[in-house]
This record gives sequence, C-alpha cells and structure tokens, in this order.
Amino acid sequence: MTTASKHPRKFFSPLAIGAPEPLRELPVRLERMIHFIPPHVEKIRAKAGDLAKQVDVLLGNLEDAIPADAKRQARDGFIEMAEANDFGQTGLWVRMNTLSSPWALDDVTELVSKVGNKLDVIMLPMVEGPWDIHYLDQLLAQLEAAHGVTRPILIHAILETAEGVKNVEAIAGASPRMHGMSLGPADLAASRGMKTTRVGGGHPAYGVLADASDGSDSRFFHQQDLWHYTIAKMVDACASAGIKPFYGPFGDFSDEAACEAQFRNAFLQGCLGAWSLHPSQIEIAKRVFSPDPEEVGFARKILDAMPDGTGAVMIDGKMQDDATWKQAKVIVDLAELVAQKDPERGALYGK
Ligand code: GLV
Ligand code: MG
Repeated sequence: MTTASKHPRKFFSPLAIGAPEPLRELPVRLERMIHFIPPHVEKIRAKAGDLAKQVDVLLGNLEDAIPADAKRQARDGFIEMAEANDFGQTGLWVRMNTLSSPWALDDVTELVSKVGNKLDVIMLPMVEGPWDIHYLDQLLAQLEAAHGVTRPILIHAILETAEGVKNVEAIAGASPRMHGMSLGPADLAASRGMKTTRVGGGHPAYGVLADASDGSDSRFFHQQDLWHYTIAKMVDACASAGIKPFYGPFGDFSDEAACEAQFRNAFLQGCLGAWSLHPSQIEIAKRVFSPDPEEVGFARKILDAMPDGTGAVMIDGKMQDDATWKQAKVIVDLAELVAQKDPERGALYGK
C-alpha cells in the first residue's frame, strides 16, 4: 500500500473558500477535565451556566449513553444550551455520533450552522485512521464557510479501536484542526477482545506474581496498569504532533481512590486532563491535573538557579541541568495556567 501526503505548503490552507484559516498553534487553555452532560435532560441543561463556572470544559454528549430515541432531543438540547449561555473561558465541546451512524451528518450540519461560532471542539468517536479526520475536516470547512464561522472548530479524536491505536501517529498529524485525543478504554477493550467488563481502570487479575523463592506461601502479587502501553503510545503521538493527550472515562463512581490513581498515572505520563462523568470526578481531576504545590516550588528553584536554562547545578543533593530545567518549565507553565483560571488553587503555588 502506498500513501501520499499533502505538500507542507498546502497543509495550512483552508479546505473551503471562505473557511477560517487553520490554526498554526493550539490556543493555550486549561483543560483538566472534560465534563460530560446529557443535553436531552432539561434539568441538567438548566444547570449548564453554573456548571460551566466549575469546570474547564463542558461537553454535550450525543453518542453512547444517549438512547437512540433521544438523539434528536440531545442535539437540539445542546444547541439550545449553547445559545442560552455565555461560557466565558470554559471550553464548549460536543461529542458527536460516529461517522458510520445515521445521526452523524445531521449532528455536524446542525451544530455548525446553528452554534458554529460558540463551539470550540467536536469530539469524534471511533477514529480508525487519518481518513476519518480528513472527512470531518473537509465537511467542517464547507460548513464553516457556508455559515460564517470565524474560527476553526477543532477536532478531538477518541482512541478506542485497535485500528485507531495502530494508526495513532497518522491520526495525530492528519490536520491542523486536531486538538488532541482521549483514550476510550471501554470501546477499546471491546475492540481488542480484552476480557473485561469495566470502563477504564485496572483489573485485579492483571498483574505480576513474585517468584516462589524459599518455598513459603507468601508471594507478592502486584496489579499492573492495563492502559500503560496505550497511554504511552498516545502521548508520544500527540506530543510529537503538538496536540494534547487525555485519559478518558473512569466508570466506577463508587471508587474515587481508583479513579484518582488512574488519572494520576495519565497525568504523570503526559496527559493534560481526563473526562468527568460524575460531579465527584470534577474535584478529582482538579486535584490530579493541577501540579502539586511542592513540585511547583522545587521546579521554581530549578528555574531560578539556572536563569538561562543551561549548565549544571545541585539543588537539595539532586543534579539539575538543561533537561531538568525543561521539565521544571512544563510544571511551572502549567501552574501559571492553573493560577489564572483557578486563583484559589493558584494561591497554593505562592505567586
Ligand atoms: C469512551 O468512549 C470509551 O469507549 O471508553
Ligand atoms: Mg466509546
């Protein structure tokens, strides 16, 4: 199979006459949690304005978990909610139905024609390869041009099929419209034939048993992270393409500690946020995806000790050089972004 790719000069050209210029850099925004709401439920829609003040991203879900006979109400409800509220600095996203579904085309055409200037990001499920991104990219450009949308609506892919994981690098680099990607562990588990029934998190039987050494019965068993490989692969694909990686859903609302552990693994590996499917997960995401104040303090010491980012110094017995300076910069930049949006947490960072 041969593949041809677009000439670099063409990569940043609008795909339709009159469509807004594609972005060269992603907007700098804090996106610690993508908070999911079902927009066909009027009671929840009515709270959207208040919710928007508590979260970094508010997402109207049109796909899985919305019953087939409520798809239209969910789409209409989302449009009504988008029109009725000012979301300020909070991102407004929607999760559309899969491209192979009977609802996808109407989702895109109605959303862009009615609220295209309010919508920041469309989350696209079941992305299998760059062809899915190219299709939506072209369609969005046509609709943006037709409806006077002035800034490009970005695409966030869900990584939730074996083929998508295989093609993750090509997906990440498919278009300047790519915002980022979320791991979708539930659909991915099904697609891979994993023998689980959970939405994310670990499994008690997936682990490593210590060798039997001295004939005693006590052997340690350590549970392992089922998602380590995929998150690492996704983070590399996203970071190398300049887009953002996210962990997706954690379905056991009764186990906040396990949710926090899964989110934290993703954060430490490079992810910028996760989905919150239940209000209790908003706080967990804030706690995990805002850097630890002690870590920020130490990172500041590194930056202060090496003002031009070069050389080598010792701090508290630990060697610092250009590479730790860059790690420190990631942490301090994130702390500053958190402080702008969330002054209460920013106060913990002492500046
Ligand atoms: C999310 O969509 C998932 O399938 O985990
Ligand atoms: Mg899914």
